[in-house]
Amino acid sequence: MNIFVTGACGYKGTVLIPKLLKEGHKVTAFDIMWFGNNLKAHDNLSIVEGDVRKINEFDLNGFDTVIHLSSVANDPCGDLNPKLTWEVSCLATMLLAENASKSNVDQFIYASSGSVYGVKDEDDVTEELELDPISEYNKTKMVSERVLLSYKDKMKIQIIRPATVCGYSDRMRLDVAVNLLTMQALNKGKITVLGGDQTRPNIHIDDITDVYIHFINNSNFEGIYNAGFENISILDIANMVSLKTNAEIEIMPSNDPRSYRINSDKLLKTGFKPSKTVENAIQEMIDLYRNGVLEDLEENYNLKWMEKNKLYNLD
Ligand SMILES: NC(=O)c1ccc[n+]([C@@H]2O[C@H](COP(=O)([O-])OP(=O)(O)OC[C@H]3O[C@@H](n4cnc5c(N)ncnc54)[C@H](O)[C@@H]3O)[C@@H](O)[C@H]2O)c1
Repeated sequence: MNIFVTGACGYKGTVLIPKLLKEGHKVTAFDIMWFGNNLKAHDNLSIVEGDVRKINEFDLNGFDTVIHLSSVANDPCGDLNPKLTWEVSCLATMLLAENASKSNVDQFIYASSGSVYGVKDEDDVTEELELDPISEYNKTKMVSERVLLSYKDKMKIQIIRPATVCGYSDRMRLDVAVNLLTMQALNKGKITVLGGDQTRPNIHIDDITDVYIHFINNSNFEGIYNAGFENISILDIANMVSLKTNAEIEIMPSNDPRSYRINSDKLLKTGFKPSKTVENAIQEMIDLYRNGVLEDLEENYNLKWMEKNKLYNLD
């Protein structure tokens, strides 16, 4: 298939693109390259540096599938410049959907977020529950979903609400829970846990990228799907990391008491089976750090990097 991927040079995209190429697809990777580009050249890969806010100018004729990953990707980054966040993470979704639909793209896969639910008391957060997004980031995801669903008679719309992703990518993110705690243990010998009781869902980067491939291969499963398999507390994650690294754990008051569990039975019923765990992600990071492949770099923290390079000032 001919696949167009936005945000392709990001944390997820950098793992996803080689998998798509391996499956024999032709891929166009589109990204503004805020965090650089770690994709390797390939005969079937075309890499385009561009701003998704101008995606209406890009010719999407001939593409079968769009995978939309680009966004200002987390709560604090989204708060830096809400106008930019809404343009990049929501208005651009509308331009992309309109362009894709006019260009007869058959399938549109969207990386939403499990954070659209906000704070929920339910033990199991399923797709039918009402959304209560808190941050600008969460709200752009909810509105983007609604925009995309309005195209469901024109394209197959598949919306994935991933849990927090963990594990290694050549474009690494160390600002996501498991990765953050693991790097603290490796770099400082000490893990600082804020609160610790908060339960959050997780998904390994190999699994979330396999989820997107699963939907490419199963375009009959339309609609919205949660994707997260291990609902565990931050303290449990810290304990797992500590057991493997001997790092000490320091508990400090929490600035983010959100606690929730997502239920992904709907995804499992489509035949998807996760193959990795949080523990795998921690062990893989430890091994790569000890081999000198994984480093603690500023660009691995989205907020620090956006602030340092004033990326939020984009006109
Ligand atoms: N990583 C997670 O834990 C997680 C969880 C749930 C949902 N998501 C969503 O999945 C998607 C991918 O996340 P990620 O972790 O790979 O984030 P990331 O920040 O590593 O990647 C986002 C990419 O979008 C690109 N981008 C930003 N603005 C752009 C613009 N104007 N034009 C073109 N490209 C632009 C960036 O350069 C970056 O490469 C995001 O939409 C994110 O919200 C991520």
